[in-house]
Amino acid sequence: MKHDISFSINGERVRLTVHSHQTLLEVIRSELELTGAKYGCSTGECGACSVLLDGEVVNSCMVLAPEVDGAEILTVEGLSGDEELHPLQKSFIDHHGVQCGYCAPGMLISAKALLSRTSRPHEEEIREALVGNLCRCGAYADIIKSIQVASRARR
Ligand code: FES
Repeated sequence: MKHDISFSINGERVRLTVHSHQTLLEVIRSELELTGAKYGCSTGECGACSVLLDGEVVNSCMVLAPEVDGAEILTVEGLSGDEELHPLQKSFIDHHGVQCGYCAPGMLISAKALLSRTSRPHEEEIREALVGNLCRCGAYADIIKSIQVASRARR
């Protein structure tokens, strides 16, 4: 079955016809060619596909595309301005929060959601916010540091 849907992604309104079985991740990557969100497990375990859906972190591999009709979505591509990286992105670069980089888009999205709720999170709050994001390189210490430094820079 097909559905006509419309939603906002990174501030732009889009209209699409999607199939009932299509996931949000498939639509973002294949139809909209926004390839920041990644396929990892495709079972809601790794967080590589994280996006913000109406301000909440979701695993886009677990959201059916018809469900996002009318929603606002933010992907990692929407974090930066036209010419400038988001402070989180800068900090991930400066403090080695990226190793292979596969988990980074999801980490950045979860960090963005955290900093929207809590401007100066404690380490424990950062760890909790990243509980759904796995890093196979094991770069957690540098990722946490990157988020801490970015949160201080925002003040
Ligand atoms: Fe969606 Fe792993 S690809 S959680």
